[in-house]
Amino acid sequence: MKVLVTGGAGFIGSNFLYYMRKRRPDYKLVCLDALTYAGNLSTLDPLLKNNEIDFVKGSISDRDLVYKLFEEYKFDYVVNFAAESHVDRSITNPEIFLQTNIIGTQVLMDACRKYGIKRFHQVSTDEVYGDLPLDRPDLLFTEETPINTSSPYSASKASADLMVQAYNRTFKLPVTISRCSNNYGPYHFPEKLIPLIISRALNDQDLPVYGTGENVRDWLHVKDHCAAIDIILHEGKDGEVYNIGGNNEKTNLEIVKTILKQLGKPESLIKFVTDRAGHDLRYAIDPAKTIKEFNWQPTIMFDDGIKQTIQWYLDNKEWWKNIINGEYQTYYDEMYKER
Ligand code: NAD
Ligand code: DAU
Repeated sequence: MKVLVTGGAGFIGSNFLYYMRKRRPDYKLVCLDALTYAGNLSTLDPLLKNNEIDFVKGSISDRDLVYKLFEEYKFDYVVNFAAESHVDRSITNPEIFLQTNIIGTQVLMDACRKYGIKRFHQVSTDEVYGDLPLDRPDLLFTEETPINTSSPYSASKASADLMVQAYNRTFKLPVTISRCSNNYGPYHFPEKLIPLIISRALNDQDLPVYGTGENVRDWLHVKDHCAAIDIILHEGKDGEVYNIGGNNEKTNLEIVKTILKQLGKPESLIKFVTDRAGHDLRYAIDPAKTIKEFNWQPTIMFDDGIKQTIQWYLDNKEWWKNIINGEYQTYYDEMYKER
């Protein structure tokens, strides 16, 4: 089988490539990634050195390139991770989110229509459902929850989901969509909460917590997300949406304090800053359908997973220091200066 993995130099896509290399050793894996600020080729070094994957630098919006790749490889499966993924950046510069997340997805699906495919899988997010109140722990997002987006990022992801469903209904393209909660684990770009807190705490820098820190996210280890995608890709039903999550809700403040405790750093580093505009209060995924249909279960409990993740950042300082010593510093200064 030949699989096109887009966005494979980013956080979840790279973890998926490592997961698939082990899980399906006989598959040909091709990674297409534009290497934006969030893409990091060094993440894939071990796979590239041993020719275990093919890597192509380019954009999913580049129709000529995408068609050329489909012609050359005749893919069986496409898993689309490529996206602009950071909510804060979508608030300062929405346009690239529309270009990559919507148009890019459409170009990939046009190629699937033209060249044929067993399955196009769209990696979506729980953010398409909007948010839930903090005082109603009984409410969870199911696949039937209406789409109700808050940020330009989530609106672009929801638009892509609608296009994927339209291509299924109108053109009978074999598609599946997964909507996962917040991931954590190795190779997470340090603009996101967990790696940002770990890297800054290790440097004894202040730790920006938006608003009161009471917002809730539902955390799942990236490996469990990858395992679910692999199953859905092979066993999912055409046209279906599957929620993925681990029933693991934490306030942001709980996350920050857990990290500080493990690193032996003081809570005085915490600095409450101006809230994110339109900040979603709470995400909570109901993964019952995915569990029931595939017998999938999260395997990494949060207490273990977060310890392993913090240890990974301690053992791989070169990986994140190379990032934060580059353009990232300018990004951080700009993004946080008004807060
Ligand atoms: P990321 O920002 O770490 O990685 C995105 C990757 O896509 C990067 O390697 C980047 O270079 C690449 N890319 C960007 N634009 C591209 C383009 N035009 N063509 C080709 N490649 C391009 O993102 P992530 O956190 O790994 O998220 C991957 C996917 O999973 C996204 O679609 C995101 O919406 C979704 N998702 C993320 C989470 C999460 O918690 N991180 C949860 C649920 C869903
Ligand atoms: O739920 C899935 C989504 O999770 C994915 O679709 C997105 O691609 C991914 O980025 C993530 O979105 P969030 O906005 O939840 O993640 P982020 O790490 O940016 O923020 C997590 C929470 O922490 C959120 O409530 C905002 C808060 N936060 C974030 C940063 C970067 C802070 O308090 N301070 C910060 O500096």
